[in-house]
Amino acid sequence: MNCSHGSTITTADNTWKMTWPETVEVAKMADKAGFEVLLPVARWKGYGGTTNFNNRTFETFNWASAVSAITEYSCIFSTAHVPLIHPVAAAKQCATIDHISGGRFALNIVCGWFKNEFEMFGAQWNEHEVRYEYATEWLRFLKKIWTSEKEINFKGRWFNSKSVWSEPKPIQKPMPPVMNAGGSVAGKKFAATQTDMNFVLLKERNMEGGKAQVDNLKMMAKEIDRNIQVWIHVYVVCRETEKEAKKYADYYIVEKGDNAAVNNLLKIFGMQSETLPSDVLNEFRRHFIGGHGGYPLIGTPEQIVDGMNDIIKMGINGILISWVDYKTECQQWIDEIMPLMEQNGQRNSKPSLE
Ligand SMILES: Cc1cc2nc3c(=O)[nH]c(=O)nc-3n(C[C@H](O)[C@H](O)[C@H](O)COP(=O)(O)O)c2cc1C
Repeated sequence: MNCSHGSTITTADNTWKMTWPETVEVAKMADKAGFEVLLPVARWKGYGGTTNFNNRTFETFNWASAVSAITEYSCIFSTAHVPLIHPVAAAKQCATIDHISGGRFALNIVCGWFKNEFEMFGAQWNEHEVRYEYATEWLRFLKKIWTSEKEINFKGRWFNSKSVWSEPKPIQKPMPPVMNAGGSVAGKKFAATQTDMNFVLLKERNMEGGKAQVDNLKMMAKEIDRNIQVWIHVYVVCRETEKEAKKYADYYIVEKGDNAAVNNLLKIFGMQSETLPSDVLNEFRRHFIGGHGGYPLIGTPEQIVDGMNDIIKMGINGILISWVDYKTECQQWIDEIMPLMEQNGQRNSKPSLE
């Protein structure tokens, strides 16, 4: 919700405009209802088209710090493009937000794939292997800063820093959780070996294929005695009847989809990421317009909860949710879907903070 149009590439009415007053409203609504996580996308430039999708964005560390100050329960993420921020700066920004939130901060690190925005920085553009080698060194340095009680020297392939000092340390010990959203061979290896959570794009939308992908990621971590959570993005259309839900999904995706913007996104994503082969990427056009390549949950509240059972059976540990109209549809999720999920044993109710 830190980006204009959220995750929907459509000219339909009531898409997310992304203003601060509305951010406050939705963040407080979600926090009060017991959402475990609020997470921003790191984006510096829009994708063109009629919507100029994601053209207005709040910077993720500032967003996370302000959202931390107005919430009291949810974990607040920031998302960092590792080539665009120095670990010494990132360590302090993260620690600051961990204090503001009272130990509710987590970090999503991404290596970048949207070349156009990297060109704004004149930043070096590396091939996949090198991107994730860089991220490994970046994270190793960050973790040292978070945990060292004394000044440290750090010398690696990319960083050469002397007498590094950072106080205060994060509140969370040993450190805040770290997530990554890599999908290439190098990205998956990085997530499995270095992070606590991998935020993935499901390549197959069926039980067998989804479960195999999730099992494979968890196995990669198990092989080196680590545990990793796997999270996905879902886009939601919930209506009283299945027919109404499907009709609205077709309306905002097919009738009102911004084809120019999604073409730009798919072209660059296809060339610069190795998450999906190009023929599959085209099949995913509908999911990219519907919710940034996410997994669809479309139907009545009962059907959505059934869909959630499949997600749980695939071994997925967390979902990040997007809607066309954050204000009304997030409220609907809270009123109509969360109680059903609790009744079905899919999640626990929000614990009291007293
Ligand atoms: C669910 C999800 C969320 C992502 N969030 C961001 C983001 O906020 N900013 C960004 O530049 N890339 C983001 N990415 C892109 C990934 O970090 C990664 O670059 C992309 O999936 C391609 O994978 P690869 O780098 O391993 O080829 C996201 C990807 C996924 C699947």
